[in-house]
Amino acid sequence: MKIILFIFLFTLFSFSFSDPDWDFWLLNMQWPLADCINYANCSVPSWYSSFALHTFEPRTDSNVPVFCDSQYPFNISEISNITYSLAYIWPDFWNFSYPQAFWKTNWEKHGTCSLSVLKTEYEYFYTGYQFRESLDPTTWLWKNNIVPSNTTFYTYDQIDQAVTQAISGLKPTISCNTYLGKTILHEIGFCYGKDLKLFSCSDTLRTNVGEKCGNRTSIWMLDFPNPN
Ligand SMILES: *[C@@H]1O[C@H](CO)[C@@H](O)[C@H](O)[C@H]1NC(C)=O
Ligand SMILES: *[C@@H]1O[C@H](CO)[C@@H](O)[C@H](O)[C@H]1NC(C)=O
Ligand SMILES: *[C@@H]1O[C@H](CO)[C@@H](O)[C@H](O)[C@H]1NC(C)=O
Ligand SMILES: *[C@@H]1O[C@H](CO)[C@@H](O)[C@H](O)[C@H]1NC(C)=O
Ligand SMILES: *[C@@H]1O[C@H](CO)[C@@H](O)[C@H](O)[C@H]1NC(C)=O
Ligand SMILES: *[C@@H]1O[C@H](CO)[C@@H](O)[C@H](O)[C@H]1NC(C)=O
Repeated sequence: MKIILFIFLFTLFSFSFSDPDWDFWLLNMQWPLADCINYANCSVPSWYSSFALHTFEPRTDSNVPVFCDSQYPFNISEISNITYSLAYIWPDFWNFSYPQAFWKTNWEKHGTCSLSVLKTEYEYFYTGYQFRESLDPTTWLWKNNIVPSNTTFYTYDQIDQAVTQAISGLKPTISCNTYLGKTILHEIGFCYGKDLKLFSCSDTLRTNVGEKCGNRTSIWMLDFPNPN
């Protein structure tokens, strides 16, 4: 009897209460062209001219736990009342009309890793949605004359300062991609604590994420094709 009870408790603790190692969420907003430009099967609708939510991942400075709970599969019905909004703010540029598969991956890979705080699929997506609604990097950069351009480039510090200023001195992460030998602005990331409050990303994280920004002096924010 004691042994059975022990096994029962052990099972309960190891399955229900195992919390993967994570300290905060990083919410990444991507400049759509920067992600798509290197792939033939990715395309950004011509009217989509703002940063888009890309990933919302629980993590530590050095590690991202993934696929934490296979017992909680993705169920599109759970988020049916916000799919209309999500389709716009959390798009899949590989399949713009059917983002469900992309959301499913986000849920299984990242959402299931912060179940200790955001306890349902709905809470995970709705929280990502709310965070994203409070962030407007496109406008913040624009107010500092950092606009999409194929002829002008910016420095890491210019981008960093524009965003930092807009979020009361807190620090974002900035990441870059490469296109035809140019360093291009890819993502701006925002750190949220388990209390759901925005905080300053650590220097360690900022440095690691910013590694691909080269010498940081010549970062391009690719301009959208002219609609015609
Ligand atoms: C896009 O194309 C690449 C090969 O160019 C392929 O590996 C990838 O699976 C494709 N992605 C999608 C979502 O179709
Ligand atoms: C999916 O979610 C809906 C709405 O919450 C629920 O009615 C349904 O039973 C769920 N489906 C599965 C397979 O869990
Ligand atoms: C949307 O659905 C979720 C989960 O089913 C529910 O908790 C929430 O209250 C709903 N929101 C609205 C505005 O109906
Ligand atoms: C987009 O998603 C739909 C529905 O899941 C699927 O039928 C289609 O093959 C997908 N297209 C691409 C390019 O992956
Ligand atoms: C920085 O790198 C770019 C190429 O990405 C190059 O054009 C530029 O001259 C470099 N600037 C410095 C100061 O090294
Ligand atoms: C800027 O450059 C990208 C990449 O070459 C291209 O797709 C886009 O159409 C260009 N935008 C303009 C306005 O020329």
